[in-house]
Amino acid sequence: MVKGSTLIVLALHFFATTWVIATNRTIDDQFGDSHSGVKPTYLSSENDIWKSHRCTSCFGGSYLAATILPSTVVNLTLKFEGTAIWVYFILGSDLAKVSFFMDNNRSPTHLQDAGRVTRTIKPTQNALVYSETGLMMGSHKLLITVSDSQETVFVAFDFARYQWI
Ligand SMILES: *[C@@H]1O[C@H](CO)[C@@H](O)[C@H](O)[C@H]1NC(C)=O
Ligand SMILES: *[C@@H]1O[C@H](CO)[C@@H](O)[C@H](O)[C@H]1NC(C)=O
Repeated sequence: MVKGSTLIVLALHFFATTWVIATNRTIDDQFGDSHSGVKPTYLSSENDIWKSHRCTSCFGGSYLAATILPSTVVNLTLKFEGTAIWVYFILGSDLAKVSFFMDNNRSPTHLQDAGRVTRTIKPTQNALVYSETGLMMGSHKLLITVSDSQETVFVAFDFARYQWI
């Protein structure tokens, strides 16, 4: 015979283990958040700089790219609720200096400083360009900005994945 208290303990255990399972959600350049549908915000000091491109082997069938002239500022903002985020670009032959500001942090992470990113001639799909884990569970805002480039650069955002608990 199973006692009532055993059942409660079992139920609590089940509830606790179910509750802490993390799930990954995605933010696509075109379709936005897989859970809420919220789309990334694209801003630029010039109109219509971001252009959508179709592709077969990238995430969601499209990526969004901008060809950025010197002195143009381009911003992309991703908002999410979770504890970790991974951002994927398509990398061409030129690497732009892209800065990632998590939650208005004043010291950004720069793409050119990211050790794993190397120059390539063929476009690299699914290139992990930024990640941050161990965030407090809650709402976060990642600002991705390209500015002060000395030459014309190409930036292509494909998607991001974030962990929700
Ligand atoms: C979420 O995605 C990251 C990066 O791809 C991976 O390391 C992690 O194991 C995934 N977590 C879950 C719960 O699938
Ligand atoms: C882009 O982000 C930078 C850095 O926070 C900010 O100074 C600038 O005003 C933003 N520009 C646009 C067009 O949103």
